Amino acid sequence: MDILDLQAKSIPAALQSRIDALAIAAPTAPWLSAAEKQHLKDTIKTLLKQKNAQLVAHYYVDDELQALAEETGGKVADSLEMANFGAQSKADILVVCGVRFMGETAKMLSPEKTILMPDLNATCSLDEGCPPEEFAKFCAKYPDHKVVVYANTSAEVKAIADWVVTSGNALEIVSHLKAQGEKIIWAPDQHLGNWIEQQTGIEMIRWQGNCIVHHEFQTYELQALKEKHPDAKVLVHPESPKEVVALADVVGSTRVMIEAVQNMPDQKFIVATDYGIFYKMQQVAPGKTLIVAPTGGSKNTCNSCAHCPWMAMNSLQNLAACLQNMTGEVLIEESIRVKALASVERMLQFSRQQGLVKIQA
Ligand code: 13P
Ligand code: SF4
Repeated sequence: MDILDLQAKSIPAALQSRIDALAIAAPTAPWLSAAEKQHLKDTIKTLLKQKNAQLVAHYYVDDELQALAEETGGKVADSLEMANFGAQSKADILVVCGVRFMGETAKMLSPEKTILMPDLNATCSLDEGCPPEEFAKFCAKYPDHKVVVYANTSAEVKAIADWVVTSGNALEIVSHLKAQGEKIIWAPDQHLGNWIEQQTGIEMIRWQGNCIVHHEFQTYELQALKEKHPDAKVLVHPESPKEVVALADVVGSTRVMIEAVQNMPDQKFIVATDYGIFYKMQQVAPGKTLIVAPTGGSKNTCNSCAHCPWMAMNSLQNLAACLQNMTGEVLIEESIRVKALASVERMLQFSRQQGLVKIQA
């Protein structure tokens, strides 16, 4: 075995996954001039109107895509509200700016609509780390358990599940199942699963996946940053390791973190999630100071790389191209869609009953 082989073997899976993602990630086109950007935005606006299409964007995508979604009557939201909004939209076409599971969820809920994505290769390490065949074998070992899967999974994995959850409703849904005396298989995010266990006191059979962005937040460096900014509140997404969660003042979904910045009286926040969320945080609380939590050690040149490489694959150019050419259509095999829909609808119905999402008039 030569040195190269040895090096290749010693790369941890999560890091390799990040390297692969960075290799395929389309840059968000920093080389475009202001006039070129404006032209693309105008084209997108015209196409959206002509085709009765709406943009549904996640908080982690490029600022300009979030702004476009808002300006054109679309939605910028967390994954739960994206699903809820898309299901109630009157548009013929939804263009989902996010990652593939978000497009697939929209298609499950609205099979009559055309669902487009700027780049169908925009995936998620949690989805990639939970292959349906292996997951089915895993579940078969525990036939008396309810299968609860995070939204960040493929349609095939959702088709195996009894319940789908997001970080915006996982606590409520697992607490509900616990009250009914159910035993639970949880997949795929190990850290979110751990946080749910801590909060509810339930023990679950857990799949050991992780998010390549949140898994990287560093405990020691975050503690040091907290000490440097004793007046800052720390906001942490529960996909982060438990030692990082333990340093948080607020733990919650992207929506919960934005509401914390908006509603808490504090002026300074250290934020442990993808920094794409700063666009919305700055919008709802313009005067407040936001600091990204560290993903690198103190000697690293990059102190924080908290940006999802797959979310970064959404750009003005590929958004305009997918609308223009009707490319990037999300399709799901019908038998899978119908099975997966049952667990997604159960989640949405529960969330609407609990007031966790809006019911549009
Ligand atoms: P939210 O459900 O909080 O939007 O998070 C989705 C996600 O992919 C977080 O990494
Ligand atoms: Fe998946 Fe993490 Fe990217 Fe969210 S940030 S889409 S969990 S890889």
